[in-house]
Formats: sequence, structure tokens, C-alpha cells
Amino acid sequence: MTEADRYAVMGNPVAHSRSPEIHRLFAEQTGQIIDYRAILVETGRFPEAVADFFSAGGKGLNVTVPFKQEAWRLADRLSDGALRAGAVNTLALTDGALYGDNTDGIGLVRDLTRNLEIGLGGRQILVLGAGGAARGVLAPLLEHRPKLLVIANRTADRARELAEQFADLGDIQGSGFEALKDLSFDLVINATSASLSGQVPQLPPGVIKSGSCCYDMVYAAEPTAFMRYALAQGAHQAFDGLGMLVEQAAASFQLWRGIMPQTRPVIRALRDQ
Ligand code: ATR
Repeated sequence: MTEADRYAVMGNPVAHSRSPEIHRLFAEQTGQIIDYRAILVETGRFPEAVADFFSAGGKGLNVTVPFKQEAWRLADRLSDGALRAGAVNTLALTDGALYGDNTDGIGLVRDLTRNLEIGLGGRQILVLGAGGAARGVLAPLLEHRPKLLVIANRTADRARELAEQFADLGDIQGSGFEALKDLSFDLVINATSASLSGQVPQLPPGVIKSGSCCYDMVYAAEPTAFMRYALAQGAHQAFDGLGMLVEQAAASFQLWRGIMPQTRPVIRALRDQ
């Protein structure tokens, strides 16, 4: 019997990662034989863990919190998207070199446009947060030519700096939350880590209007704090980030295996659990 190609997700914490299950379902569906595990890596030991994994014959890695920036520095070669994002969530060994990609942004955009059928072109889009999660999705969003993309952050300067770094790609502005008063948006994407502690960004009233769609990049069994807040503000719809998680995984799977799995049945299976 041939040995399964080995893949893993490295993070800290990582025990609750749904990636092993997602990749198992992809492999089953596409008839690929892979072994995908979650590996807990101690802070400060990421480079060593990556080197050990690949020298033992590992084929590819997903990287999650808090190692995405470290993975970016470790890669010998970067995709354009990863270069811009300043973070890597997918590593592959190709011709002896470590290749780094970032599939988070494409994962978000595919979930929005294909699964949820939310148009981005010509829309007014607000991204909340200016950390790594926000940075990773800006370029793929701008590719769809929104009418306006605003990044708003609790610390306004971080949002302004981020907007400047992406200004060559489209109409993008950065501000604090207060500056949003009198504005409203078609799509509001929460890329802050506030939901993880059950908090919501303090937005002026009216930013989320009755026709707005809201999206939380975090996922949970129950609607997140941001989703509940958005619906209470009158948002038309509010979604969590489970679809984004499955879509970013599918893009990694395609990079490693050369085959694109179907994502909808996997999203449905995870939702049903
Ligand atoms: P990540 O890689 O998940 O983006 P990060 O780089 O630590 O993590 O960024 C966290 C983001 O969530 C930041 O934009 C942070 O705002 P500040 O830059 O002002 O710190 C935002 N954030 C975290 N908790 C928040 C809260 N309770 N309300 C609003 N924004 C919050």
C-alpha cells in the first residue's frame, strides 16, 4: 500500500481547528490519499517545526495564528497575494524551495461572491480592523472594483497606514470608527478579533443600514457577537466565516494536489454538525 502524503496545520492553539476535517472531506470527495493533522507548535519553535516537518517528507502546511507572519519570513518564494498580505497561510515544498501563499483573501471573496452571491463591484464596502486578518483580504476585495473600500479601526492610524499601502490598487480609505458617522455601507466585513472575546467594534449608528450585508470572518456554532449586533442594527443578512474557512482550505488543497474540491457539500456537512 502506498503511504499517504502528509499535510498539517500548525498553530497555537490548534486543537479546535476544523482544517483536518475539511481536508479529510476534500480527500474523500476527490479520491486523494492524504494524511492531514493538527500540530501544536510552541512559540519560538515555528522555524524548527517547519524544517522538521518537511525534512521528514511532509508535503504541505497550513499556518494559523500566531505564525502567519513568521511563515511569510520563512518562505523562499512568495505568491503576489502573500507578498502583499505580509502573511502566509499555505506552505508547499516545490523543487526544494519553500513556497508561501495566502489563500485567506481568495477564500473570503469566493464565499461572498459564489456561495452567498453578494456582488462586490460598484459597492460601498467597509472592513473593520487593521491587523493581519484585514490586511490579507484587501487586495482580493479591490480586484472586484468596489465603488469605495473603507478600512476602519479602533486605532485610526493603523487603518490609515494600511489604506496607504494598498492605495495603488483602488479607491481605499482608512479611518477610525467615529469618522464613519453619516456614512453607510452595502457590505460590512468584521476583520477584528473582537468577536473572539464576545465584543463588537463601537460603530456610530447608521453605518449598518437596513439593506446592509454583514460578514464576520470569525465562525462559531452560534451567531457571533458581531452578527447579532448587525442584525439588531437592521442588517439584511449576517454571515459567519465558516464558508471562508472552507474556501481558503480548498485553495490550499488545489495548490498542493492540483485539483479543486467542491466546497458547498463540505460547508453543509460542517454546518450540520
Ligand atoms: P489579526 O491578525 O487577527 O487581525 P491583530 O493583528 O492583533 O490580529 O489585530 C486585531 C484587530 O482587531 C485590530 O484591528 C484591533 O484593533 P486595534 O488595532 O485598535 O488594536 C481589533 N480589535 C480587537 N479587539 C477589538 C475590540 N474590542 N473593538 C474593536 N477592535 C478590536
